[in-house]
Amino acid sequence: MIDIHSHILPEMDDGARNFSESIEMARKAVEQGITDIFATPHYYKGKYDNDKEKVEGKTRQLNRVLDDLEIPLKIWPGQEIRISDELLEDYDNNSVMALNGSHYMLLELPLNHVPRYMERLIYDLQMKRITPIIAHPERNLEIIRNPHLLEELIWKGAYSQITAGSITGKFGWRTKRFSKYLIHSGLTHFIASDAHNVENRGFQIREAYKWVEKNLGQEVVNGFQVNAKNVLYGMKGKEHFV
Ligand SMILES: [Fe+2]
Repeated sequence: MIDIHSHILPEMDDGARNFSESIEMARKAVEQGITDIFATPHYYKGKYDNDKEKVEGKTRQLNRVLDDLEIPLKIWPGQEIRISDELLEDYDNNSVMALNGSHYMLLELPLNHVPRYMERLIYDLQMKRITPIIAHPERNLEIIRNPHLLEELIWKGAYSQITAGSITGKFGWRTKRFSKYLIHSGLTHFIASDAHNVENRGFQIREAYKWVEKNLGQEVVNGFQVNAKNVLYGMKGKEHFV
C-alpha cells in the first residue's frame, strides 16, 4: 500500500520529533500494510522552512536508518505546501517540489477559508505541468459550508486527498459524515494517513480502506490505490468512481 501524506521525517515540523519516533512510525506503517510512504513535512514560510533540499537530505538519512534496521518501508520525498502567492516563485527557485519530483503537488489550504487566488493558482500550476492535490478538504470550513467550491476546484483540474482518520471518526462525527459525502460524490481521489506520530495522530489507513470496501466496494478501493501508484510512478491519469 502507498501512503502519499505523512509527517514521518524527524526534526522537521509537528510530526516525528527525532529518529526514534520516525522508526516507531515506520514500524506502525509496515503493520498497516504500507510499503511506500511520502514524507510530506509542512512547508510554511516563517513557520516551517522545510525546503526541497532539506527534505531530500533527511529522506536519504531516514531511508538509510530503515535499511540498516531491515524495516521494509521506503520513504519518498515531498512537502505539504501551504498555499501562498509566492508558491510559483518558490517552485521556480527550487524551494518547493512536487511529490518525489513527479507532477503531483500536495497543497494545504488555510483551515477556515479558500483564498480567491486558488483557481488561478491551479491554472498556473497546470501550465507548469503540475497537478495540485488538495490535502484534507474535509477539514476546511468554507468547503464544509459550500462543497460546491471543492467541486469547482476539481473541475479546474485539482485532485483531493481525504485523511484516513476523518473517515474513521478521529476528527468527530461531522468530519466523518462530510468525508463520506465527498467520497460518495466522487470529489476525492486519494486516502492518505497524514500521520504525525504513533500516539494521537496515527495511520488508520487500513481501517479507512476497510470502510470504503464495505460501503462502496473493492473497485473503489482499487481506484484510490491506482491513483496513489500513479503518483509514486509519476504517471498521469485519474480514476473515476462512484
Ligand atoms: Fe499533513
